[in-house]
Amino acid sequence: MDLDTLQQQLDEAASQAAAAAQAARTVEELRSIESRFLGKTGPVADAMAAIRSVPPEQRGAVGQLANRAKAGMSSSFQARHEELKRAASAGEQAKAALFDPTLPGPVVPRGSVHPVTAVQWEVEDIMARMGFVVVSGPEMESDYYNFEALNIPAMHPAREMQDTFHLENGLVLRTHTSNCQVRAMERFGAPLRVIGPGRCFRYETVDASHDNTFFQLEGLLIDRDISIANLIAVMKGLLQEVFSREVKVRLRPGYFPFVEPGFELDMSCAICGGAGCQTCKRTGWIEILPCGMVHPNVLRFGKIDPEEFTGFAFGLGLTRLAMMKFGVADIRLLNSGDIRALTPPERLGGPVVANCTATR
Ligand code: FA5
Repeated sequence: MDLDTLQQQLDEAASQAAAAAQAARTVEELRSIESRFLGKTGPVADAMAAIRSVPPEQRGAVGQLANRAKAGMSSSFQARHEELKRAASAGEQAKAALFDPTLPGPVVPRGSVHPVTAVQWEVEDIMARMGFVVVSGPEMESDYYNFEALNIPAMHPAREMQDTFHLENGLVLRTHTSNCQVRAMERFGAPLRVIGPGRCFRYETVDASHDNTFFQLEGLLIDRDISIANLIAVMKGLLQEVFSREVKVRLRPGYFPFVEPGFELDMSCAICGGAGCQTCKRTGWIEILPCGMVHPNVLRFGKIDPEEFTGFAFGLGLTRLAMMKFGVADIRLLNSGDIRALTPPERLGGPVVANCTATR
């Protein structure tokens, strides 16, 4: 073999390799050039392969030429690799320097009000048209307003009906929005028309229709000559407006110490159409609107004369109403952050999560 020719070829390959390395714009590009020159089918590998076919006295020289060419090319690639790495990190730094955290983020679809809030606002509008004003009561409440003033003295068995979170400061987390009844009577006197929406808390076992934190909306009307007929008319009118259709309801006796007589007003389960499902515990009915005529003792606690005034009160299960209205079959979805339960139905083009966990 002509060693001069081999050297010439390898020098040429080395200078081509150096030029190609210099032209590489990315590390990936550089790697593919490197494997072209130093890989199994490149000029260095060819020279190495030739060693076997040259006379023994030339083998050392051929090997040396091949190794020298390989070292030269490797150092060209290594140098370029360092350069590209440095450039990439400088680019990152420049990009970071350009990042302005005060600029607005990418445009994402707007959020929407929570279904319970949407229903609350709707009920507030309906009731406002009937002359009710919105009041609020504290979520941390005294035993007096949550129980005593509602005709539920200490040790009264009715306290068992509402598993209560007792706080270390002697207050309770209100178990119902009825805590605003006597507060409103004290503040405004009679006649009176108020609604009090808000969060309630009970130490409940959570299931498809019970949560430990849920919303109610209290209603209280006190005036002269108020009767059960007024109560039923307002209840039916309210539900019809919320559902924009005739709603099947049933009224049955219910016991609450702060009303007499007291009723449970149930509506036909909107998840299963009354056929029975997990949400309505297979009864076809959902307890939604307990109500009754205000007990004279409660009027007395509120400094209102029961001889002159009568009234009715109701405790609408607002979270359950939202479930019925939007077809949310499991109450837990409403606090889960599940986007399907939080998207307004008009955006989904139908009821939200309709019958998602309902089974017949
Ligand atoms: C009461 O809380 C009474 N204060 C209601 C009342 C007011 C009666 C005024 C008479 C006059 P009850 O415990 O049934 O009643 O709850 C009222 C409604 O709140 C229920 O019908 C139901 O719709 C809803 N509710 C009760 N517990 C839960 C719960 N754990 N999770 C979700 N909703 C609940």
